[in-house]
Amino acid sequence: MKSEGSNFMDTNEKFRNMLAVAFDIDSRESALNLAKEISEFVGIAKVGLELFSSLGPSIVFELLDHGFKVFLDLKLHDIPTTVNKAAKVIGKMGISYTTLHTVGGLEMLQAGVEGLLEGSIVAGNDEVFPLGVTVLTSDKNAGESELLYRANLARQSGCKGIVCSGLDLKIVENAVSDLVKVVPGIRDADDLPDDQARIMTPGEAINSGASILVVGRPITKSADPRMASEKIYSQIVNAFKETLN
Ligand code: C5P
Repeated sequence: MKSEGSNFMDTNEKFRNMLAVAFDIDSRESALNLAKEISEFVGIAKVGLELFSSLGPSIVFELLDHGFKVFLDLKLHDIPTTVNKAAKVIGKMGISYTTLHTVGGLEMLQAGVEGLLEGSIVAGNDEVFPLGVTVLTSDKNAGESELLYRANLARQSGCKGIVCSGLDLKIVENAVSDLVKVVPGIRDADDLPDDQARIMTPGEAINSGASILVVGRPITKSADPRMASEKIYSQIVNAFKETLN
């Protein structure tokens, strides 16, 4: 039988796994310090182009050892064979999420999904999510039909989720209702938008159907990353409870 304590742990785990922090930094020391500070409230460490270019797979393994699920965000976009082989290597690392750019087209996406699943089996990992990147949240000009087209491509190719802005969630809702929706461009009312053009607060994004929020600078550039991550975690919990009422 589960104790009350273990129920709390399960709930905490569920909400931690709705928050991905973008480790957009280039040093191992800073990445591991950040990992220590935020791990109570954050379940997913997103390793992007900067950190991966700087440190390679070793930082992925260190973050996995730290207990994070890893989201390797390299937005693969190349010929299908190259994407297939790269995705297979990525899968072998034991990561949980990785991105393929839908601009690469159906054949490329299918090749990427196949490679990722194959690699993940080698790693003994049956919980991996290939994500199709639809429209960058910094893009001010992408139209609705392009967004829908790309979301549908992701779905047809076997991607288990998409990345889109919070403002796009309503538009793709019916097309990809069964996929995971990963949403960057998250900012509180008092945060700077930085280079993000299409932003939403954590609560608004959850209420609009986001499954996972990606937050970078509001946490990594904060004077107190632990407190900043707790603040967003609490907003996720509150918004989630509202959607149940
Ligand atoms: O610092 P900030 O919260 O803007 O970071 C957002 C993160 O999400 C960055 O790592 C960026 O690469 C990523 N991302 C994005 N828009 C997408 C896909 C990924 O901002 N469509």
